[in-house]
Amino acid sequence: MKKERLPHHFEFDLVRVTEAAALTASPFVGRDDKKGADQAAVDAMRRVLNSMEMSGVVVIGEGEKDEAPMLFNGEKLGTGSLPEVDLAVDPVDGTTPCAKGRENSIATIAMAPRGTMYDPGPFVYMNKIAVGPECVGVIDIEKSAADNLKAISKALDKELKELVVVVLDRPRHEELVSQIRKVGARVRLILDGDVMGAFLTAWPGSGVDVLMGVGGSPEGVLAACALRGLGGEFQGKPYPRNEDEKRRGHELGYDFNAVLTHHDLVSSNDVIFSATGITDGAILQGVEQAGDAASTHSIVVHGASSKVREVITTHLAE
Ligand code: FBP
Repeated sequence: MKKERLPHHFEFDLVRVTEAAALTASPFVGRDDKKGADQAAVDAMRRVLNSMEMSGVVVIGEGEKDEAPMLFNGEKLGTGSLPEVDLAVDPVDGTTPCAKGRENSIATIAMAPRGTMYDPGPFVYMNKIAVGPECVGVIDIEKSAADNLKAISKALDKELKELVVVVLDRPRHEELVSQIRKVGARVRLILDGDVMGAFLTAWPGSGVDVLMGVGGSPEGVLAACALRGLGGEFQGKPYPRNEDEKRRGHELGYDFNAVLTHHDLVSSNDVIFSATGITDGAILQGVEQAGDAASTHSIVVHGASSKVREVITTHLAE
């Protein structure tokens, strides 16, 4: 039997979802109100998702790390009709840059057929490596940063000193950063937003070759969905923060030695990823207000249709 694909119009519906989240979070930019921004974006996402003809379940919600407002895991969204889908949501990836008026805050979501997304359970963090299409098959998260960089330099036919590695600027990455610099590659430290950090590796002309380091697990699954659609590669490994997380993981049957590829994190190619800028970033422009109108900049990737679209929308006053 031919398997039904997600309807093509879902690409545009998901753009409407991330646009709505970005538009409602935007008035909070620079107001030091992370929760206000998150709550506004969550409410907007929920409203648009509930208008879609589908039975959606939130597999990847957010909030546990910082007890933020959230679309909770297991929450059902949509009108209740077919198709049945899994959802990974991050209404604001980069609540801090949003609150502080800095770059790199986005609203993002991914969708795939029901039962195809990995639930990271109690693991809040994941060790990650992500690359673009030319480096598929050459990375291995179990190997050292130096070994991976050598393999990437060969695959890209670039010298090690030409490679650019995106890493979240965190004390836990001091050793990783020194290993990267030791082989001669350059580090681009980002303050927040490793979904787009991973996305950049597969975006032509971004100047980024690889993302490495530990970041949020929900963001890992979202990045895997994006890279699956873009033809890149993502590998992640659960990164338990403490013994309690390890114990909970064990009890729930998780293997924290497992290497999770983008195929494990989303097992269908029929995956749609959408992101809209809240503040300006390397690719996406943030929401721009012009009188009563506003413009948004989004990217939507659909694996099954091999399409990547950039969408600039002017939202006129109602
Ligand atoms: P939030 O918007 O939830 O704060 O996440 C931003 C972020 O930078 C993610 O992109 C990243 O995966 C995660 O935080 C890293 O977590 P931490 O800030 O705890 O190192």
